[in-house]
Amino acid sequence: MIKKLTLTALAICALNVSATPTFAAEGAVEPPHQHWHFDGPRGMYDKAALQRGFLVYKNVCAACHSLKRVAFRNLDGLGYDESQIKAIASEFTITDGPNDQGEMFDRPGRPADRFPAPFANPQAAKASNNGAFPPDMSLLVNARHHGADYIYALLAEGYVDAPEHTELAPGQYYNKYMAGHVISMAAPLSDGIVAYPDGSPETVKQYAKDVTEFLKYAADPHMEARKNIGMRAMIFLFFFCLVFFMAKKKIWKDVEH
Ligand code: HEC
Repeated sequence: MIKKLTLTALAICALNVSATPTFAAEGAVEPPHQHWHFDGPRGMYDKAALQRGFLVYKNVCAACHSLKRVAFRNLDGLGYDESQIKAIASEFTITDGPNDQGEMFDRPGRPADRFPAPFANPQAAKASNNGAFPPDMSLLVNARHHGADYIYALLAEGYVDAPEHTELAPGQYYNKYMAGHVISMAAPLSDGIVAYPDGSPETVKQYAKDVTEFLKYAADPHMEARKNIGMRAMIFLFFFCLVFFMAKKKIWKDVEH
């Protein structure tokens, strides 16, 4: 009897487990895994991809999404030198002040400034986006389940025709990877909207891949340093063990076992 009950319980568990991988929380579809340059203990960023991803952020996403924890000087990890960073910063307008007259004023950005937000406050952001708030992108990759895979899938493969009987209000779109499948962001990417100077394909998939790698960097700029230290620590510990092992052999060599 007990055996039978246990078997039934096991069978129910198995059914549940096999049902979860396709549908994660709140009815969103689990994104397929992509190959990322930064995957694994030795994975590093691809600087060319980061630079392209930054172009996509700057020319497309920055119209709605802030990146408020990232300063222009953090772009050094993309392989830009000081003068290139100065030039990039100066393309942005920063509101500074107050000045001696007590007024705020606009000036070109400097390397130490953080990326300016596209809207003055969250209310203005919502008012321009049908009541939906475009989240800040600084930590978005870390804040979402399956971070990079999810963002790539949402951008590159998620916008599909809504199934019949799906109610979409004006300004709402169907995206199969969004939790609940309804998103208040129109598909932001289309082929050819950003010019790539390095000859990479100007396609939705490539843009999505590059901007996701850039957003991963924005959320985790010290990943490379961390992995390097980790690797050196492992090598150090290996030799440390070796030395002690040989020392032990030497010390005990005349002792009868
Ligand atoms: C016209 C404004 C606009 C642009 C341009 C835009 N977004 Fe959005 N985005 C939004 C809004 C609004 C939301 C919130 C949607 C919601 O909550 O339904 C959003 C949400 C998101 C989300 C979060 C989905 C979630 O899990 O909550 C991601 C990821 C995202 N955008 C990525 C991007 C990327 C990458 C770009 C640039 C390629 C971009 N967006 C460009 C307005 C925009």
